[in-house]
Amino acid sequence: MKKCFFFIFVCIFIGREITVAQPLQQSSAATQKWWKEAVVYQIYPRSFKDSNGDGIGDLKGIISKLDYIKSLGVDVVWLNPIYQSPNFDNGYDVSDYKKILPEFGTMADFDSLLQGMHRRGIKLVMDLVVNHSSSEHEWFKQSRSSRTNPYRDYYHWWNAENGKPPYRFSLFDINHDAWKYDTTTNAYYLHYFSDKQPDLNWENPKVRNEVYNIMRFWANKGIDGFRLDAFQFVAKDTTFPQFPKRFEKNFMHYYAMQGNLHGYLQQMNQQIFSKYDVMSVAEGAGNTFEDAHNLVDSNRHELNIAYAFNGVDIAKPNGYSLLQFKTVFSQWDSAFEHSGWLAVFLANHDQARMVSRFGNDAPAFRTHSSQMLSTFLLTMRGTPFYYNGDELGMSNPHFTSISDYRDEVILDAYKHTKQTGGNINVFMKNLAFGARDNGRTPFQWNSSTNAGFTTGTPWIGINANYTTVNAAVEENDPNSCLNYFRKLVQLRKNNPTLVYGKYTLLDKDNTQVYAYLREDAHGKFLVVLNFSDKNAEFNNPILMKQAKLLLANYTTNATISLTKILVLRPYEAMVIQL
Ligand code: NOJ
Ligand code: CA
Repeated sequence: MKKCFFFIFVCIFIGREITVAQPLQQSSAATQKWWKEAVVYQIYPRSFKDSNGDGIGDLKGIISKLDYIKSLGVDVVWLNPIYQSPNFDNGYDVSDYKKILPEFGTMADFDSLLQGMHRRGIKLVMDLVVNHSSSEHEWFKQSRSSRTNPYRDYYHWWNAENGKPPYRFSLFDINHDAWKYDTTTNAYYLHYFSDKQPDLNWENPKVRNEVYNIMRFWANKGIDGFRLDAFQFVAKDTTFPQFPKRFEKNFMHYYAMQGNLHGYLQQMNQQIFSKYDVMSVAEGAGNTFEDAHNLVDSNRHELNIAYAFNGVDIAKPNGYSLLQFKTVFSQWDSAFEHSGWLAVFLANHDQARMVSRFGNDAPAFRTHSSQMLSTFLLTMRGTPFYYNGDELGMSNPHFTSISDYRDEVILDAYKHTKQTGGNINVFMKNLAFGARDNGRTPFQWNSSTNAGFTTGTPWIGINANYTTVNAAVEENDPNSCLNYFRKLVQLRKNNPTLVYGKYTLLDKDNTQVYAYLREDAHGKFLVVLNFSDKNAEFNNPILMKQAKLLLANYTTNATISLTKILVLRPYEAMVIQL
């Protein structure tokens, strides 16, 4: 477990198993919805664009870049939390759900951001962080003040005269202990994440109503959806039974999808989702395909999109197996062929950069491998959740000193490693590969000082490659990652087959090439991706003298001859119309 903690953001959800469930014989997967056809672009506000020189990205900064966002062709922006927060966990510790963090701006800025997006036909999805609040939230201040306070039951408390509470594992706590003793009332409170993030008591109907009020507040402002942070953990058995020894090795089994979670989601659906045209996605999808279906199958009236980590978890510092990658994505696709809907993603703010984990960030390969991965994301069934900066092929900054990192959880783990005589070299290597700060360095706008992100000192260092990897340079290069991404988005928009069509894996045992068909009554496409840094051969079952090459990251030839063996160059990607 210790090792896992040090590497927490790579293996945070390790232990999930894939259980093959029989697909349900429904056809809701084919029902057209705007949130199925959307390309979601995730913006990490702190790192996107700073408007006032304090080194921190902000809402006005995003507003100034709305035309850029529009130029990508994306339909939806998912914004990480921008609420009032002491910012222990960069906004995932909310102290007031209806206020904007002053560092990010004001409510008036938020209103003009939303207006600016809607004017451009872009929808906005907000992060809702309600498995826990900040310990600075008024509810918690009240709750901890006395055992009889009306807010006491907003959180989980265990009175100390009853002895130590049964062990619960914390994902963020250095000692993995999810109970924190609080002297004021001689009791422990529960925190699955840090002790500054006490878990809300979802079993209390008052808490649920507070959350629906918060959701109503934002939905009435006109936002277009919610991403529910850590939601799979909200329901708990409040008798807190003993779990077996070493349960933490498989904590997902004990934490995810417990109790009346589905009841809460159905209530939320009835109160909010059914009353507004909003999309909904929860972080995490339980342990099995069945768990994921139970969250999103349309007949359940809960959520829209399942966001499962099995794909993104595959990358490890010493590499990953393409066969495993293909198996995971193919199994998920087939489990959701007839009902439910998936998010497809390879990065987010909790992951290091996609190109560094799944591609190759060496200068010779960065562009092609990044474009190849984007081709994958934009040609799979499911809604692509695309992380800001990946359209430039932004890569890990390869930080070497602990002083480069900002994530408090990482800093705690570093101290702990030192104190306990752990191997700091290994620790630092693991961070450089997998720490989530790698994905949080400032967006690279141009080659001027600080990559055009800020006129001040950026809150976290900028990747040294910004002089060549940036939006301004890529704008003028027809073969850049940026312009390739725009073409991919248009290709998906022009061909709903790429959204809804059947997926069939080809040449399944090929260890270098991932190839698949997407087809329906309206069209048929062959996608061929070389995931390796060497030439690779694809055993092509579809022979055609002249097929239309719709998009490729090496060549702009209009046609291609489909022979029995296709030779691909390193990280070559092709989308072919059949
Ligand atoms: C998942 C969020 O994505 C992550 O950034 C955060 O630290 C935890 N949930 C706790 O809220
Ligand atoms: Ca700022």
